Amino acid sequence: MEIRRDGIRILKNPQRKERPKAVFTEEKAQEALRFHRSLPAYGESALCSLDALAKSLRLGGIFVKDESGRFGLNAFKGLGGSYALFRLLCERFGFDPRKTDFADLLQEPYRTKCRAVEFTTATDGNHGRGVSWAAGLFGCRAHVFMPAGSAEARRRAIEEVGFEAEAVITPYNYDGAVAHAARLAEENGWVLVQDTSWEGYEEIPARIVQGYLTLGNEAVRQLAGTAPTHVILQAGVGAMAGGLTDYLAHAFEKRPVFILAEPDEANCLYRSLEAGDGQIRIVEGNPETEMAGLNCGTPCGVTWPVLRDETDFACALADEVTEEGMRLYAQPLGNDPKIVSGESGAVTLGLAARIARDAELRKLFGVTEDSVFLLVSTEGDTDPENYRRITTA
Ligand SMILES: Cc1ncc(COP(=O)(O)O)c(C=O)c1O
Repeated sequence: MEIRRDGIRILKNPQRKERPKAVFTEEKAQEALRFHRSLPAYGESALCSLDALAKSLRLGGIFVKDESGRFGLNAFKGLGGSYALFRLLCERFGFDPRKTDFADLLQEPYRTKCRAVEFTTATDGNHGRGVSWAAGLFGCRAHVFMPAGSAEARRRAIEEVGFEAEAVITPYNYDGAVAHAARLAEENGWVLVQDTSWEGYEEIPARIVQGYLTLGNEAVRQLAGTAPTHVILQAGVGAMAGGLTDYLAHAFEKRPVFILAEPDEANCLYRSLEAGDGQIRIVEGNPETEMAGLNCGTPCGVTWPVLRDETDFACALADEVTEEGMRLYAQPLGNDPKIVSGESGAVTLGLAARIARDAELRKLFGVTEDSVFLLVSTEGDTDPENYRRITTA
């Protein structure tokens, strides 16, 4: 069943079923949190309450995790990269990750040994920046490959946060850049740290997803007993959305409604859910969308089963939806805080607003004046020029 509105296609997930057990559990979240807390740069990201906007949209509340300040990286992605690198280095040196801190890896002889390890990844920007930064923390080099058309500002930002890091814009689309990084890893003995998985490459992506759970754990604590009724999560490959959906589905007494948001052109999860046979679908070519972080053609295999079973609705969205979200964050109502939210960060607020204003959609999603939305603004102004253009239009 597909429902259409201007700039929005909505699918009620035909494959939804109750999962017997969480994969991304509280225990896993605690392991990641323990590591993140040992990083000097760690601090909880803010949970902002947009009360005036919620009131104007006839909602009970809108809570937003603002990830623009995370580790000084302007996006949430460093949570995953740093935890995956930590686990890889623990394994290499025979450390028990449950008893090891960041500082332990900076002691000799491990500090020197770390220097010999080189990492690689493909990225739209934010994941690569996280990997480059995390590699630098341990004194390792990172080689980062970006799809054609990536913003130069995002490329430079990757090199700036790393240690002798290299970032290259390739002529490939996202999936092609992933294949390129995998090939060079093989040739050069670099360790591939990719935030998506395929058959035979699952362990590292699973650690990355585990790292994202810190965000969910913080949110539940910061909500202090308030339970969201609706959670909207944006997806590229669906690693973040899958991890958080599984975690949050088990975090509250009453399970919230889970809504997945993707760019219309790069809607690989939407298509996979729509297909109805449990298998993923791939979006080929070079999809065009302003939502660079969500511009991915192949679902992450590690989180696909979670999203297939636990997503209630999937939405494929035009760029105008995220542009509205960016402006709503940039020009707050009343005493609401201003949130700097980039193209991939703001799409869920744009969608929430459009659902809330439409009587039929309110009914479809079960939205009332008591509904509480939980959103994640996953990035700040990672492309500052585009951000300025959109928010001052
Ligand atoms: C800002 C931002 N938000 C959301 C996502 C989506 O994460 P995932 O690819 O795990 O679906 C990304 C991915 O790069 C991103 O950069």
